[in-house]
Amino acid sequence: MSGDPATPVDPVLARYAEAARRAGEGECVCADDGSHFGAGHYADVDTVPAAAVRVSLGCGNPVAVAELREGETVLDLGSGGGLDVLLSARRVGPSGHVYGLDATAEMIELARRNATEAGASNVEFLHGSIEHIPLDDRAVDVVISNCVIVLASDKDTVFAEIARVLRPGGRVDISDIVRHGAEDGSAAVDCGDRAITVDQYQAALWRAGLTQVSIQPTDTLGGGLHNAIVHAAKPCVGVRRMEPDDWPTVRAIYEDGIATGNATFEPSAPAWDQWDRTHLPDHRLVATDAEGRVVGWAALAPVTDRCVYRGVAEDSVYVHRDHHGRGVGTALLERLVAASEQAGYWTIQTGIFPDNTASLTLHQRVGFRIVGRRERIGQLNGAWRDTYLLERRSHNM
Ligand SMILES: C[S@@+](CC[C@H](N)C(=O)[O-])C[C@H]1O[C@@H](n2cnc3c(N)ncnc32)[C@H](O)[C@@H]1O
Repeated sequence: MSGDPATPVDPVLARYAEAARRAGEGECVCADDGSHFGAGHYADVDTVPAAAVRVSLGCGNPVAVAELREGETVLDLGSGGGLDVLLSARRVGPSGHVYGLDATAEMIELARRNATEAGASNVEFLHGSIEHIPLDDRAVDVVISNCVIVLASDKDTVFAEIARVLRPGGRVDISDIVRHGAEDGSAAVDCGDRAITVDQYQAALWRAGLTQVSIQPTDTLGGGLHNAIVHAAKPCVGVRRMEPDDWPTVRAIYEDGIATGNATFEPSAPAWDQWDRTHLPDHRLVATDAEGRVVGWAALAPVTDRCVYRGVAEDSVYVHRDHHGRGVGTALLERLVAASEQAGYWTIQTGIFPDNTASLTLHQRVGFRIVGRRERIGQLNGAWRDTYLLERRSHNM
């Protein structure tokens, strides 16, 4: 399978072509400070061909944190001389398979020579770009990458491609460079101009439909730049826009939630027309299982029609009882929040009964904080109930 090789005149790729050529001739082109970049992040490089180590240009060691298992299929984005591919190949064993993808033809040639020298038969190097991954949907279990996504100008496209090629439940384990904290002096790297903040990185992964995002900045590179370890996963459910035809199922899930007595003050689900009038048309999602059945929904409603609060909305999230505890609510709420931030909303708020610990946990996981407890704020079935008011402020304000 072949991809769309990026243009050979790209100055970034020309630099990597030169690095591959020099490494192939025996020169060490990896960073020599031994700390922030290159082979210094690895304890086991003496087991791979020297040319792969000489051109180690990463900013971490994704293989060390990926917890690869026997038989898994792995994709390394921007695989360079093939160091991470060869180390992964050993972890997944003969029943597994590892793809390396790189836009620089010279890197692909070098990596293929290194694989031959290492006798690795379960690896394959693809010439193509991370913006158009030349693999089928759901082709891989794990995507790794080492200091490559920072170079991409269109990270949304890269993350959408990662989500596309991962199987549901698949994982993302990446070393990359992010912006974090104060601009502390000048940057020690020249690829930082396209680096994004931790919050922007998280939001972009959420927009792509990836979940369980964790971004841990590690060593500082100066200029507000840090190496970072990024983990994420592809949820086992799909998330898509809610259509009017979904309403009977959405309403049934809503009614089921109402019946718990712990979800809302609403006594019953309204008719479609009323629900449709009171919720924001561009912020309605459903989660679907492997058969395409709707198993949960989430939506935003304006809190008031006062102009000053135009960026403030209230969320609702309901998950079918058979699908609780499987990350469905998290996947829905993360996507809802990411899309709302992109649309310019600065606050999402919600009221949650104190007994509804699952919803409290869900919202806090997605960055909501408890503003306060509203005592005896309303009656449900004749009994006064408290709620917690929670809100999530956008980091893009
Ligand atoms: C900093 S080096 C890292 C190489 C390797 N991951 C490592 O740890 O040594 C970046 C690599 O990404 C490749 N690359 C840059 N932009 C790319 C793109 N858009 N698509 C695919 N590969 C790309 C370059 O050719 C280069 O091999």
